[in-house]
Amino acid sequence: MEELIISGQTKKEQYETLLPQIASVIEDESDMIANMANVAAMLHETFHFWWTGFYRVQGDQLVLGPFQGPLACTRIAKGRGVCGTAWKKAETIVVEDVFQFPGHIACSSASRSEIVVPMIHQDEVIGVLDIDSEKVATFDEVDVLYLKKVVENLSKKLIKNAC
Ligand code: SME
Repeated sequence: MEELIISGQTKKEQYETLLPQIASVIEDESDMIANMANVAAMLHETFHFWWTGFYRVQGDQLVLGPFQGPLACTRIAKGRGVCGTAWKKAETIVVEDVFQFPGHIACSSASRSEIVVPMIHQDEVIGVLDIDSEKVATFDEVDVLYLKKVVENLSKKLIKNAC
């Protein structure tokens, strides 16, 4: 499959440009919510996804965190939907077509594909980065590679108690 080219740059090039900018923005800020908010904004503005945001683990649920896009479900149980499954398995999940994912939670009927990357700190999932697209099959191995780096960079800065 040919690489998606946006604004004269491939998706890989866009991530390569964006990642140092994200690193620089979060470098001197220790507050998790502030960093999540800026990361969501930067990813969303660069790629014009349908929905870009975070859920944080709070007890036995994921609770909505900073995001860009239409309003979303506030709480997701472990093992439910794409987010709850990524949390339970502690694995990144790419969904080419949300209609084919059993138990997908449709916060928005416009969402057609999705990627969820767990944030892991000291071997525990402390939250997830969730991105939705209104087109099918938006996310591939390039997104997996770079979004994992984004999330790793964020988690490195986090103290679990501040989550
Ligand atoms: N679709 C997600 C729910 C969160 S919204 O997409 C923002 C899921 O199935 O877990």
